[in-house]
This record gives sequence, structure tokens and C-alpha cells, in this order.
Amino acid sequence: MEILDLNEDNLDSFFILFEQVVREDFSEYSGRIKNYFLTKDYSKDTFRYFLGKPYRKVLLATEKDNVVGYLVGDQTYGGVGFISFLGVERTRRNNGIGRMLLDSYEKFCKNKKAHMVKLSTFKRLMPFYTQCGFKHIGEEEMGYWGTRNQIMGKIIGNWNEDTLS
Ligand SMILES: CC(C)(COP(=O)(O)OP(=O)(O)OC[C@H]1O[C@@H](n2cnc3c(N)ncnc32)[C@H](O)[C@@H]1OP(=O)(O)O)[C@@H](O)C(=O)NCCC(=O)NCCS
Repeated sequence: MEILDLNEDNLDSFFILFEQVVREDFSEYSGRIKNYFLTKDYSKDTFRYFLGKPYRKVLLATEKDNVVGYLVGDQTYGGVGFISFLGVERTRRNNGIGRMLLDSYEKFCKNKKAHMVKLSTFKRLMPFYTQCGFKHIGEEEMGYWGTRNQIMGKIIGNWNEDTLS
């Protein structure tokens, strides 16, 4: 298993898995919201646009050139790394791949002198994130995309003013 950054060569395989997980695993989102993600904010072209730019951090778990998992985060802001999407190919779940992606992102954030990793999720996924060291911060009754969201975070260091440079 290798953790790689998204690049022009693995973009197609990544997007096949990303689309599959978005379509199959998020009953919380309507078909219209999913279409919006996949054709606008998180379309293949949008991912391509962000390659090499200092905003998104997309990590892939790969096995013999197959993409089996991904994490879409930002490159930290104000010392906080925010994760937008995490997914593992259905037949490869419960093999530590999700945890491995979270650990790699945490390492990336630490290198950026960040003090926290944060995300917004759903109740059904809280046990997984708790198992991976995240704490429940609170609940948004109607947050992003109108869903009931659980905000979870993990402190990974001390606030560091060098993050301002
Ligand atoms: C959630 C998801 C990313 C987890 O990835 P994974 O590779 O299966 O998880 P891991 O194998 O790394 O699990 C790490 C730990 O969490 C536990 N765990 C995994 N899924 C869990 C779940 N649904 N509930 C409770 N615990 C869970 C594992 O047993 C493991 O525990 P251990 O440390 O005792 O071994 C994966 O199930 C997935 O892609 N789901 C669909 C997409 C999704 O919901 N993404 C999250 C959106 S916020």
C-alpha cells in the first residue's frame, strides 16, 4: 500500500472511485446535491484545476496502481487542516486504509505547523473517527448542504504563530 498525492496520471482512477463512493455511500445527500458535487465543486476538471496549487491536498491510497482510497482536505488555514471527503473502495474497507489516510494527512498538517485536524461528518461515522483519535466538538442542526452534521476534531500540536509566515 502506498500513499500518493493526486496527480495528472492517477486522476482518472481516483475520480472513478470518488464518483462511486459519492453516489453509493451518502444517503444524506439528494441526487441533485451529488450531481452538483460531481459536476461542479468536485468535478474531475475542478480536481485537475487544483493540481499544483496551494489550496487542496488530495491523498490517494494505491495498491499496484489501483486507487483504493482517497482523502480530500485543504492545505491548512489558521493552523487547522479541514477534511472534506474520505472514502475507501467497498471491498477494501476495514483494512486500516481510512486510518492510514487520516494519519498521512495529519503528518502533512504537522509539517505545515498546524495544531488541529477537523471535519464535518454524520452520526453513523462517529465511532470510526473516535477510533481514529477524533473528539466530538458539537452538532450543527442544519449545516453544509442542509444536513445535520457532527463536527469532529483532533488536536495535533500547539498553536504556532509560525503558521502565519
Ligand atoms: C468510513 C471509511 C472511510 C472507513 O475506512 P476504512 O478503511 O474502512 O476504516 P479503517 O479500516 O481504517 O478503520 C479504522 C478503525 O475504525 C473502525 N471502523 C471502521 N469503520 C467503522 C464504522 N463504520 N463504525 C465503527 N468503527 C469503524 C475499524 O474497525 C478500525 O478499528 P481498529 O482501530 O480497532 O482496527 C469507509 O468505511 C468508507 O469509505 N465509507 C464510505 C464513505 C464515507 O462514509 N466516508 C466518510 C465521510 S465523512
